[in-house]
Amino acid sequence: MSEQPEPSGRLTAELLEIALDAATRAGTFLRDGRPEDLGVAATKSSAIDVVTEMDIEAEKLITGLLTDRRPDDGLLGEEGASVEGSSGVEWVIDPIDGTVNYLYGLPSWAISIAARKDGETLVGVVHAPMRGELFRAVKGQGAFVNDRPARVRPAAEPSLALVSTGFGYLAERKAHQAEVVRQLIPEVRDIRRGGSAAIDLCDVAAGRLDAYYERGLNPWDYAAGDLIAREAGALTGGRPGEPLSPALTIAAPPGLFEVLQARLDDLGAWHD
Ligand code: IPD
Ligand code: CA
Repeated sequence: MSEQPEPSGRLTAELLEIALDAATRAGTFLRDGRPEDLGVAATKSSAIDVVTEMDIEAEKLITGLLTDRRPDDGLLGEEGASVEGSSGVEWVIDPIDGTVNYLYGLPSWAISIAARKDGETLVGVVHAPMRGELFRAVKGQGAFVNDRPARVRPAAEPSLALVSTGFGYLAERKAHQAEVVRQLIPEVRDIRRGGSAAIDLCDVAAGRLDAYYERGLNPWDYAAGDLIAREAGALTGGRPGEPLSPALTIAAPPGLFEVLQARLDDLGAWHD
Protein backbone atom coordinates (compact mmCIF):
# COMPACT_ATOMS: atom_id res chain seq x y z
CA MET A 1 0.00 0.00 0.00
CA SER A 2 1.39 3.42 -0.92
CA GLU A 3 1.84 5.93 1.90
CA GLN A 4 -0.96 8.48 2.25
CA PRO A 5 0.01 12.13 2.72
CA GLU A 6 -0.30 13.14 6.37
CA PRO A 7 -3.71 14.69 7.05
CA SER A 8 -3.17 18.39 7.72
CA GLY A 9 -5.33 18.21 10.88
CA ARG A 10 -2.93 15.70 12.36
CA LEU A 11 0.04 17.83 11.38
CA THR A 12 -1.36 21.05 12.84
CA ALA A 13 -2.37 19.26 16.05
CA GLU A 14 1.19 17.98 16.42
CA LEU A 15 2.73 21.38 15.64
CA LEU A 16 0.42 23.09 18.15
CA GLU A 17 1.24 20.61 20.90
CA ILE A 18 4.98 21.06 20.32
CA ALA A 19 4.72 24.88 20.16
CA LEU A 20 2.70 24.98 23.41
CA ASP A 21 5.21 22.72 25.13
CA ALA A 22 8.22 24.77 23.94
CA ALA A 23 6.62 28.12 24.83
CA THR A 24 5.54 26.92 28.28
CA ARG A 25 8.96 25.50 29.13
CA ALA A 26 10.74 28.63 27.90
CA GLY A 27 8.27 30.76 29.86
CA THR A 28 9.03 28.97 33.12
CA PHE A 29 12.76 29.19 32.46
CA LEU A 30 12.60 32.92 31.69
CA ARG A 31 10.24 33.84 34.55
CA ASP A 32 11.91 31.77 37.28
CA GLY A 33 15.48 32.06 36.03
CA ARG A 34 15.76 35.80 35.42
CA PRO A 35 18.90 36.90 37.27
CA GLU A 36 18.47 39.92 39.56
CA ASP A 37 21.54 41.48 38.01
CA LEU A 38 20.56 40.70 34.41
CA GLY A 39 22.71 42.68 32.01
CA VAL A 40 23.18 43.18 28.31
CA ALA A 41 25.10 40.36 26.61
CA ALA A 42 25.36 41.99 23.17
CA THR A 43 23.86 44.68 20.99
CA LYS A 44 22.55 44.37 17.42
CA SER A 45 21.39 47.17 15.11
CA SER A 46 22.22 49.93 17.64
CA ALA A 47 23.37 50.38 21.26
CA ILE A 48 19.74 50.14 22.46
CA ASP A 49 18.92 46.98 20.45
CA VAL A 50 19.95 44.55 23.16
CA VAL A 51 20.29 40.81 23.72
CA THR A 52 20.53 39.25 27.17
CA GLU A 53 22.04 35.89 28.05
CA MET A 54 18.44 34.77 28.71
CA ASP A 55 17.36 35.49 25.09
CA ILE A 56 20.19 33.28 23.91
CA GLU A 57 19.54 30.48 26.42
CA ALA A 58 15.77 30.52 25.79
CA GLU A 59 16.29 30.26 22.03
CA LYS A 60 18.61 27.27 22.61
CA LEU A 61 15.99 25.62 24.84
CA ILE A 62 13.25 26.12 22.23
CA THR A 63 15.27 25.07 19.18
CA GLY A 64 16.65 22.04 21.07
CA LEU A 65 13.13 20.88 21.86
CA LEU A 66 11.86 21.51 18.32
CA THR A 67 14.82 19.67 16.79
CA ASP A 68 14.35 16.69 19.13
CA ARG A 69 10.68 16.40 18.24
CA ARG A 70 10.88 17.26 14.50
CA PRO A 71 14.48 16.98 13.27
CA ASP A 72 13.66 17.68 9.60
CA ASP A 73 11.99 21.07 10.13
CA GLY A 74 13.56 24.44 9.33
CA LEU A 75 14.25 27.06 12.00
CA LEU A 76 14.38 30.85 11.95
CA GLY A 77 15.08 32.51 15.28
CA GLU A 78 15.73 36.09 16.36
CA GLU A 79 18.97 35.12 18.11
CA GLY A 80 20.44 33.43 15.07
CA ALA A 81 18.78 30.03 14.64
CA SER A 82 18.79 29.37 10.90
CA VAL A 83 18.26 25.86 9.56
CA GLU A 84 16.87 25.13 6.11
CA GLY A 85 15.10 21.83 6.91
CA SER A 86 13.64 19.30 4.47
CA SER A 87 10.07 18.69 5.73
CA GLY A 88 8.56 21.93 4.36
CA VAL A 89 7.72 23.09 7.91
CA GLU A 90 9.62 26.09 9.27
CA TRP A 91 9.51 27.34 12.86
CA VAL A 92 9.74 31.09 13.41
CA ILE A 93 10.86 31.88 16.95
CA ASP A 94 11.25 34.96 19.11
CA PRO A 95 12.55 33.67 22.46
CA ILE A 96 11.77 37.01 24.15
CA ASP A 97 9.66 39.58 22.36
CA GLY A 98 9.93 42.66 24.51
CA THR A 99 13.55 42.16 25.52
CA VAL A 100 13.88 45.73 26.83
CA ASN A 101 10.89 45.15 29.14
CA TYR A 102 12.46 41.88 30.30
CA LEU A 103 15.80 43.59 30.92
CA TYR A 104 14.15 46.26 33.08
CA GLY A 105 11.85 43.84 34.94
CA LEU A 106 8.65 45.09 33.30
CA PRO A 107 6.04 42.36 32.76
CA SER A 108 5.15 42.79 29.07
CA TRP A 109 7.32 40.24 27.32
CA ALA A 110 6.45 37.03 25.55
CA ILE A 111 7.73 33.95 23.80
CA SER A 112 6.48 33.80 20.21
CA ILE A 113 6.55 30.56 18.20
CA ALA A 114 4.94 30.02 14.78
CA ALA A 115 5.03 27.09 12.38
CA ARG A 116 4.64 27.76 8.68
CA LYS A 117 4.43 25.55 5.64
CA ASP A 118 4.65 26.68 2.02
CA GLY A 119 4.72 30.28 3.18
CA GLU A 120 1.52 29.97 5.21
CA THR A 121 1.40 30.17 9.01
CA LEU A 122 -0.43 27.09 10.31
CA VAL A 123 0.09 27.50 14.05
CA GLY A 124 0.90 30.45 16.30
CA VAL A 125 1.60 30.50 20.05
CA VAL A 126 2.41 33.57 22.16
CA HIS A 127 3.08 33.04 25.86
CA ALA A 128 3.18 35.99 28.24
CA PRO A 129 4.25 34.34 31.53
CA MET A 130 3.94 37.42 33.78
CA ARG A 131 0.30 37.76 32.71
CA GLY A 132 -0.32 34.01 33.03
CA GLU A 133 -1.52 34.01 29.42
CA LEU A 134 -1.05 31.58 26.60
CA PHE A 135 -2.46 32.68 23.24
CA ARG A 136 -2.80 30.13 20.46
CA ALA A 137 -4.28 29.76 17.02
CA VAL A 138 -4.43 27.10 14.34
CA LYS A 139 -5.30 28.23 10.82
CA GLY A 140 -9.06 27.95 10.32
CA GLN A 141 -9.75 26.94 13.93
CA GLY A 142 -10.04 30.27 15.77
CA ALA A 143 -7.85 31.86 18.42
CA PHE A 144 -7.79 31.27 22.16
CA VAL A 145 -6.39 32.98 25.22
CA ASN A 146 -5.79 30.23 27.77
CA ASP A 147 -8.95 28.22 27.10
CA ARG A 148 -11.26 31.11 26.21
CA PRO A 149 -11.99 32.02 22.58
CA ALA A 150 -10.32 35.32 21.62
CA ARG A 151 -12.37 37.80 19.61
CA VAL A 152 -11.60 41.31 18.36
CA ARG A 153 -13.73 44.25 19.49
CA PRO A 154 -16.38 45.56 17.09
CA ALA A 155 -14.79 48.16 14.77
CA ALA A 156 -14.52 51.50 16.58
CA GLU A 157 -14.83 54.92 15.00
CA PRO A 158 -11.23 56.04 14.42
CA SER A 159 -11.71 58.92 16.88
CA LEU A 160 -12.62 56.35 19.59
CA ALA A 161 -9.93 53.81 18.74
CA LEU A 162 -7.23 52.82 21.22
CA VAL A 163 -4.23 52.22 18.98
CA SER A 164 -0.94 50.63 19.95
CA THR A 165 2.33 51.03 18.09
CA GLY A 166 6.05 50.59 18.54
CA PHE A 167 9.32 52.22 17.61
CA GLY A 168 12.46 50.80 16.06
CA TYR A 169 16.01 50.91 17.40
CA LEU A 170 17.52 53.45 14.99
CA ALA A 171 17.28 57.15 15.88
CA GLU A 172 16.33 58.29 12.38
CA ARG A 173 13.51 55.72 12.08
CA LYS A 174 12.24 56.57 15.57
CA ALA A 175 12.12 60.28 14.75
CA HIS A 176 9.88 59.63 11.73
CA GLN A 177 7.74 57.15 13.68
CA ALA A 178 7.26 59.81 16.36
CA GLU A 179 6.19 62.29 13.68
CA VAL A 180 3.54 59.82 12.43
CA VAL A 181 2.26 59.41 16.01
CA ARG A 182 2.25 63.21 16.51
CA GLN A 183 -0.16 63.52 13.61
CA LEU A 184 -2.25 60.45 14.47
CA ILE A 185 -2.78 60.98 18.19
CA PRO A 186 -5.30 63.86 17.93
CA GLU A 187 -7.38 61.70 15.56
CA VAL A 188 -7.74 58.63 17.85
CA ARG A 189 -8.73 57.92 21.47
CA ASP A 190 -5.15 57.40 22.57
CA ILE A 191 -1.88 55.68 21.74
CA ARG A 192 -0.23 52.82 23.66
CA ARG A 193 3.39 51.62 23.46
CA GLY A 194 3.58 48.27 25.23
CA GLY A 195 7.02 47.12 24.08
CA SER A 196 6.13 43.71 22.63
CA ALA A 197 4.73 43.45 19.12
CA ALA A 198 3.61 39.86 19.74
CA ILE A 199 1.57 40.93 22.79
CA ASP A 200 0.16 43.93 20.91
CA LEU A 201 -1.16 41.63 18.18
CA CYS A 202 -2.64 39.29 20.81
CA ASP A 203 -4.24 42.26 22.60
CA VAL A 204 -5.98 43.20 19.35
CA ALA A 205 -7.09 39.55 19.13
CA ALA A 206 -8.44 39.64 22.69
CA GLY A 207 -10.33 42.92 22.19
CA ARG A 208 -8.06 44.88 24.55
CA LEU A 209 -6.85 47.21 21.83
CA ASP A 210 -8.76 48.46 18.80
CA ALA A 211 -5.73 48.41 16.53
CA TYR A 212 -1.98 48.06 16.29
CA TYR A 213 0.53 49.17 13.69
CA GLU A 214 4.30 49.33 13.43
CA ARG A 215 7.00 49.71 10.81
CA GLY A 216 10.21 47.67 10.97
CA LEU A 217 9.16 44.38 12.59
CA ASN A 218 10.87 41.10 11.77
CA PRO A 219 9.01 37.87 10.93
CA TRP A 220 9.70 36.45 14.41
CA ASP A 221 7.95 39.45 15.99
CA TYR A 222 4.70 39.03 14.06
CA ALA A 223 4.43 35.47 12.65
CA ALA A 224 2.47 33.97 15.57
CA GLY A 225 0.58 37.14 16.56
CA ASP A 226 -0.55 37.73 12.98
CA LEU A 227 -2.29 34.33 12.84
CA ILE A 228 -3.77 34.81 16.33
CA ALA A 229 -5.16 38.25 15.38
CA ARG A 230 -6.61 36.97 12.07
CA GLU A 231 -8.17 33.92 13.70
CA ALA A 232 -9.77 36.27 16.26
CA GLY A 233 -11.41 38.24 13.44
CA ALA A 234 -8.85 40.96 12.68
CA LEU A 235 -7.62 41.95 9.27
CA THR A 236 -3.86 42.28 9.01
CA GLY A 237 -1.80 43.84 6.26
CA GLY A 238 0.72 46.43 5.23
CA ARG A 239 0.24 49.27 2.74
CA PRO A 240 -3.12 49.17 0.87
CA GLY A 241 -3.26 45.98 -1.19
CA GLU A 242 -0.13 44.53 0.42
CA PRO A 243 0.27 41.81 3.03
CA LEU A 244 1.88 42.65 6.34
CA SER A 245 5.65 42.65 6.12
CA PRO A 246 8.66 44.16 7.85
CA ALA A 247 7.85 47.40 5.98
CA LEU A 248 4.51 47.80 7.77
CA THR A 249 2.27 45.70 10.00
CA ILE A 250 -1.32 46.75 10.75
CA ALA A 251 -3.99 44.77 12.64
CA ALA A 252 -7.57 45.87 13.34
CA PRO A 253 -11.14 44.65 12.94
CA PRO A 254 -12.71 45.03 9.48
CA GLY A 255 -14.20 48.51 9.18
CA LEU A 256 -11.48 50.18 11.24
CA PHE A 257 -8.65 48.41 9.43
CA GLU A 258 -9.29 50.00 6.02
CA VAL A 259 -9.63 53.53 7.46
CA LEU A 260 -6.48 53.22 9.56
CA GLN A 261 -4.55 51.65 6.70
CA ALA A 262 -5.43 54.55 4.37
CA ARG A 263 -4.55 57.14 7.03
CA LEU A 264 -1.22 55.46 7.85
CA ASP A 265 -0.42 55.37 4.15
CA ASP A 266 -1.05 59.13 3.90
CA LEU A 267 1.07 59.75 6.99
CA GLY A 268 3.98 57.76 5.53
CA ALA A 269 4.03 55.12 8.29
CA TRP A 270 5.60 52.77 5.71
CA HIS A 271 8.86 54.68 5.23
CA ASP A 272 11.67 56.06 7.39
C1 IPD B 1 10.72 44.45 19.69
C2 IPD B 1 9.36 44.57 20.31
C3 IPD B 1 8.89 46.00 20.28
C4 IPD B 1 8.88 46.56 18.88
C5 IPD B 1 10.25 46.38 18.23
C6 IPD B 1 10.67 44.93 18.27
P1 IPD B 1 12.41 42.62 20.66
O1 IPD B 1 11.18 43.11 19.70
O2 IPD B 1 8.42 43.76 19.63
O3 IPD B 1 7.58 46.15 20.79
O4 IPD B 1 8.54 47.93 18.95
O5 IPD B 1 10.12 46.82 16.89
O6 IPD B 1 11.95 44.81 17.69
O7 IPD B 1 13.64 43.34 20.21
O8 IPD B 1 12.01 42.95 22.04
O9 IPD B 1 12.46 41.14 20.42
CA1 CA C 1 10.98 40.65 18.89
